[in-house]
Amino acid sequence: MMHNDIQSILLTKQEIDGLVYKLASQINEDFQDEELLAVVILKGSMIFAADLIRCLSMNVKLDFMQASSYGESTVSSGVINIKKDLDEDVTGKNVLIIEDIIDSGNTLALIKREIQARGAKTVRIVTLLSKPSRRKIDVDVEYIGAEIPDEFVVGYGLDMAEKYRQMDYVGILKPEIYM
Ligand code: IMP
Ligand code: MG
Repeated sequence: MMHNDIQSILLTKQEIDGLVYKLASQINEDFQDEELLAVVILKGSMIFAADLIRCLSMNVKLDFMQASSYGESTVSSGVINIKKDLDEDVTGKNVLIIEDIIDSGNTLALIKREIQARGAKTVRIVTLLSKPSRRKIDVDVEYIGAEIPDEFVVGYGLDMAEKYRQMDYVGILKPEIYM
């Protein structure tokens, strides 16, 4: 059973619901009636995004992107590897990038830069979780659900080798599972 691999629960389902509601309230207040293009970063963010956009009150269009950064280089020299690109043209749109967790920030910094370069009107980022102690790149994140310590977490979309995504809570994995 996957639950046996969990050392401790970091966020319960109820706590996650509270964070999602708090984030959605901030976004609703900031954008009011302006239309948003929600860009869901695959795969981990799909569960968070599904809950978040159902709490948004403006018109929301939905699109998906899967990308990674080549190597461990800095964003200034970094090249983005887009595995699945957007269907929508972002020109003149308010884009909300939806991310599950920000670690080094490398990938997200490149995605943000790419969407800005395509002529979006605004580009903001919402993430459920952030590990500030792991940050390597300074990327502005407007909406953060919770800051967490440097532990490997799974569940609520987050995986380890594609497992544990379907858990409805976020848990810290036992170190012996990934060592
Ligand atoms: P970054 O480019 O280093 O910020 O990478 C962020 C990505 O790494 C996230 O979108 C996740 O896919 C993955 N990641 C980082 N930390 C964790 C974790 O604790 N559990 C599961 N995935 C993680
Ligand atoms: Mg992952």
